Amino acid sequence: MKILMIGGGGFIGSATAQALSEAGHDVVVADIFDPQIHGADIRKSPTFQKLGKDVEIQVADARDPSAMEPLVRQADAVYFFAAGTGTGQSMYQVRRYCDVNVMGAAVLAESLAAHRDGLKRVVLSSSRAVYGEGAYQCAAHGNVTPAGRTAERISAGNWEPSCPICKGALRPLASKETDALLPTSIYGTTKLAQEQILFQSCQGFGIPFVAYRYQNVYGPGQSLRNPYTGILSIFSQLLAKREEVNVFEDGLPTRDFVHIADIVHYNVRALELPPSESVILNVGSGRGVTLIEVVKALAAALGVDAGYRISGEFRAGDIRHACADLSALAAKFGARKFIRFEDGVRDLVDWISRQESGGLSGLAYRKSLDEMREAGLLGGSR
Ligand SMILES: NC(=O)c1ccc[n+]([C@@H]2O[C@H](COP(=O)([O-])OP(=O)(O)OC[C@H]3O[C@@H](n4cnc5c(N)ncnc54)[C@H](O)[C@@H]3O)[C@@H](O)[C@H]2O)c1
Repeated sequence: MKILMIGGGGFIGSATAQALSEAGHDVVVADIFDPQIHGADIRKSPTFQKLGKDVEIQVADARDPSAMEPLVRQADAVYFFAAGTGTGQSMYQVRRYCDVNVMGAAVLAESLAAHRDGLKRVVLSSSRAVYGEGAYQCAAHGNVTPAGRTAERISAGNWEPSCPICKGALRPLASKETDALLPTSIYGTTKLAQEQILFQSCQGFGIPFVAYRYQNVYGPGQSLRNPYTGILSIFSQLLAKREEVNVFEDGLPTRDFVHIADIVHYNVRALELPPSESVILNVGSGRGVTLIEVVKALAAALGVDAGYRISGEFRAGDIRHACADLSALAAKFGARKFIRFEDGVRDLVDWISRQESGGLSGLAYRKSLDEMREAGLLGGSR
């Protein structure tokens, strides 16, 4: 197949492009190569370098219909990865996130009209951010969906969401695709908009659609420059430089980390689904890991002391717990043994150690937090 990958020059897109190219597909990557992710010279970007000579690269903006329409017209399948991905940054660069994430999807939706009969599938990289805090269980009221946590509650050290009915304690549940969609960040809202725009357009044109709601993806190839997203990349680089890691809240928020190889596996398999089928599926590892466990696992892999400080700070837009329910994914594709977090972390650390200098500085990371603080979106003690 001729496969167009919009935003395919980044972490997940480039790994997927490489796998599809190796599987014999004819791959075209269209990417703006945003300097926040790739640096000023794209030739030095590890993901740009990885794309290799078998993948055609077009430096193009997903928001530009004159660039996208001819590319879509030639494609048998389209993967859409283009996005700003910083949850915190999205809270104060609201126009930028809406512009890139929503307009990019809208341009693809309009481009589909001209090519409705030729396209076999559209695959979107969506996010667990569409769930917001996700589903919880209350002993008195059963399954509930708490709204985002208020700054007032969090400032008082009430980190956990409470029951929307009785304000009592809750137990987090793994997110199912059928859960309520209540994003707590601008990023999450734009990912939900991408899903809905592309779902509705594909349905209208009769084009099979897949949206994968990824949890936190990590592994070789993730941007080492971007201070706005990628907790494992940021923490591991700070630890390697013996800089103290600022662990938010009480250190006990959890995230579900899924290795890039597992994500690529499902991205490639999206092409195997029956032509009549449109689906929205979670992709994660199904295991929640606390921030403190993250720092300890990285420090162990690096062979350094886990130098961290539980700062009590919190960012507007952040959720407390994330973990995917993978039963729908397994029903569609069969069971899979996911890469264990501790093994994947060693793989990431090993890859980082082999990269040339030019990664993240502690200064750039602190600047990203200062931006949030100045915008009034970083709360708690310092
Ligand atoms: N990495 C994660 O943990 C994760 C989790 C959930 C969802 N996702 C989603 O997966 C997708 C890929 O994420 P990633 O981690 O590879 O991020 P990334 O930042 O490495 O890649 C995004 C790519 O989009 C490109 N891009 C940005 N604006 C563009 C525009 N206007 N036109 C064309 N290209 C543009 C960037 O240059 C970059 O190469 C995103 O849509 C993201 O929301 C990622």
